[in-house]
This record gives sequence, C-alpha cells and structure tokens, in this order.
Amino acid sequence: MREVDYDDRQHRVYARARAVPPETLTEWVHVFARYAPPQRPLTVLDLGSGTGRFTPSLADEFGGPVWGVEPFDRMRALAEEHATHPAVTYLDGSATAVPLPDESCDLVLVFLVLHHVRDHAAAAREIRRVLRPGGRALIRSLFPDRMPELPWYSYFPGIRLIDEQVFPRLDPLLETFDEAGLRLVTVERVQERLATSLADYADRLKLRGSSTFERLTEDEITEGFTALDAAVRAERRPGPVEEDSDLLVLERPAN
Ligand SMILES: C[S@@+](CC[C@H](N)C(=O)[O-])C[C@H]1O[C@@H](n2cnc3c(N)ncnc32)[C@H](O)[C@@H]1O
Repeated sequence: MREVDYDDRQHRVYARARAVPPETLTEWVHVFARYAPPQRPLTVLDLGSGTGRFTPSLADEFGGPVWGVEPFDRMRALAEEHATHPAVTYLDGSATAVPLPDESCDLVLVFLVLHHVRDHAAAAREIRRVLRPGGRALIRSLFPDRMPELPWYSYFPGIRLIDEQVFPRLDPLLETFDEAGLRLVTVERVQERLATSLADYADRLKLRGSSTFERLTEDEITEGFTALDAAVRAERRPGPVEEDSDLLVLERPAN
C-alpha cells in the first residue's frame, strides 16, 4: 500500500482534526504514567511526534528532557510553533534512524506510528538501542488479530479493510520485538473519547485529518459522510463518541 506523505496534505488539517480533548489527554498521560519506570525525572522520546499532540504533556508529567522525533518537515514545523515546552526539543529523524545516543531514554512513546513504518525489525532495534536498561516503550496501535469495533467502520466499511492491511499483527510483532531484546509487559485495551457528540465527531472527520482517507476512493468517502450525516440527524440525545485501542507495553530488561 502507498506510503502517506504527511507534508503533502495531512499537516494542514491534522492538528485541528485530531485535537485531543483535554480530559482525553489527561487520561492518556495517566495510562502512560502507570506503565512508565517509577523514577522521576524521565528522559522521554516521542517517536513520530507529528504536530506534538502529546509531547508537551509528556514533559509536564515526566520532567524530561523530552525529544520529539518526526521525519516530515511540515509536521515538525507545526510542533515547533504550536507545541512548545522548555523541556521539549523536536528533531528530524524516524523510527529506524533516531538521532539520539545509545541508552539515552527511559521511555519511548510510539503513538499511532508503527503502521507507517516498513521495517519493524529495524525500528525495534532502534527503540531498544536508545532505551536504558529497565526503560519501556509504549506503543499505541491497532492489531488486526484483536481488532476493536471502531465508530467509523459503521459509515466507512472500507476503512476496516485498510486497517487490517496497514496495521501490524500482534503475534509476529511481539516476536520481532523479542528478537530485538524488548520483552512484553502487557497489552492494555484503552478507551479514548474522540468527540462530545456524533455531530462533533462528523465535523472533525470532515476535515479528513487521517491518512486513512487518502486510501479511500472519493465515492467511498461521499457514501460514508452521507451515512454519517443521516446518523447525526437521527441522534436524539447527543452522547460522546469513544473508541477502543491497544497500548502495547515493552521493556528493555535491566542488565
Ligand atoms: C497518525 S500520526 C501520529 C502523530 C503523533 N504520534 C500523534 O499521536 O499525534 C503518524 C505520524 O508518524 C509519522 N511517521 C511516518 N513515518 C514514520 C517513520 N518511519 N518514523 C517515525 N515517524 C513516522 C508521520 O509523519 C506522522 O507524524
């Protein structure tokens, strides 16, 4: 499947379309803190930091320094402009080429990035390389072998098929990480609030701030939004839209 170029269109809409509501951000940071090594401060790598949705909050929670590593210049420029924090530095790099020394980080966050990475074995080795012994990696992803029912699958059935192709399966991925020297701690199912109502959800989706839209046909997109608009009109009492995702927790064992 074609690679997504975040410098082409996504950078213009991503921050608005994918803004994390403050309470959702707090909930995610609490989940990260539950699985992070216990000492403070922690040096953190936000790998594939995008527009920096999580990066400043990681610095608030863990102290830092926090490194946001992102390969696409325009995504990184937006983070540098809008997601600033005294303890945060954004760097050009990728999951397979992190510009940080060996054993320099306590925690690596990989939030919705792994499905863009072609060489998982190289990424696994790179994550292990930059982690200190006892350090942990938190990988938020979907895994086709334990796929949740996401809200947008009801309106855009093609997205499920795309997700099943682009996201890595858990079992082989665990083997890959294990070969690189990263051991499984747990996989936790996390529920994330995306929007306060279906109307709010539809407004955000219409910004098309997801690389998945670039893999649908215009007909599929039109049909999906027609179905979603009908559901919005039928929504009598607005309620939150939530989705399940998986957080994979890995550890570089202490020596
Ligand atoms: C869905 S966005 C997630 C961004 C950020 N982690 C967040 O949650 O807002 C995916 C990000 O992965 C980045 N990306 C794509 N290929 C990558 C790679 N090989 N290594 C690291 N990041 C990559 C994209 O540029 C984009 O910023």
